[in-house]
Amino acid sequence: MSKDVYQQVGVAMTCRGFDEYLRMFDLPERELAQGKVLDVAGGGSSFTADAVDRGYDAIAADPRYVRDTSQWVEEAAAEIEASTMKLSKLRDYFDWTYYGSLERHREGRIESLKRFSGHLQSAEGRSRYLAGSLPELPFRDHSFSLVLCSHFLFLYAEQFGFEFHKQSILELMRVCMPGGEVRVYPLHSLGWKPFERMDELLAIITAHGGEPELLPSRLPFIPGSSSYMRIAIC
Ligand SMILES: C[S@@+](CC[C@H](N)C(=O)[O-])C[C@H]1O[C@@H](n2cnc3c(N)ncnc32)[C@H](O)[C@@H]1O
Repeated sequence: MSKDVYQQVGVAMTCRGFDEYLRMFDLPERELAQGKVLDVAGGGSSFTADAVDRGYDAIAADPRYVRDTSQWVEEAAAEIEASTMKLSKLRDYFDWTYYGSLERHREGRIESLKRFSGHLQSAEGRSRYLAGSLPELPFRDHSFSLVLCSHFLFLYAEQFGFEFHKQSILELMRVCMPGGEVRVYPLHSLGWKPFERMDELLAIITAHGGEPELLPSRLPFIPGSSSYMRIAIC
């Protein structure tokens, strides 16, 4: 990997906010009202907290949720500073149209983490964060009307290979109900490369009863990353 890309060892725990989710998945808010929503690889995101606050039935799953909750918040806070440092060295490569500046990007993450942390400490909030790890999620078939996965699949394609992605996408489809949707963003890796065997993966999704489309995202930021994947479950 060239030195001039975002370097990352392991999978980071980041904390994007509700508006970033709506934009990356080009998601009309009314879709959240259709039934249960699952945020896979939720990390320190405030998406679930904000969705519940708005009256939607959302939960999040992440392997890190097996640990003590104070550790999740500490890790996410440390990641904000680490990523800000890395982005400061690469700022000319990224598209700042949405965030405005590196400092506003950082402030947004801090705000999102605060809401995530507040939700965790609320009476009903903690029960909405469940330990779960792709490619096998602890949910029954057809449990959700909308399944989201932000900044895990495809982003870490250099660490997780094709078979992992195939099994994981089929797992997201399994837990989604007929008539529902799976949405995944980004489709580029941290090395800013498109997923190499995307055509093969799309054919597998279709063979398993999904209708996949690669559609324009509304979250300009990662170099070259302008689409998300939507899979309609038939
Ligand atoms: C970059 S963060 C994304 C967090 C959040 N979705 C966001 O967009 O800010 C990636 C998350 O993937 C989680 N993760 C790592 N391995 C995973 C797996 N096998 N299945 C599901 N999530 C995983 C990590 O714990 C981490 O919280």
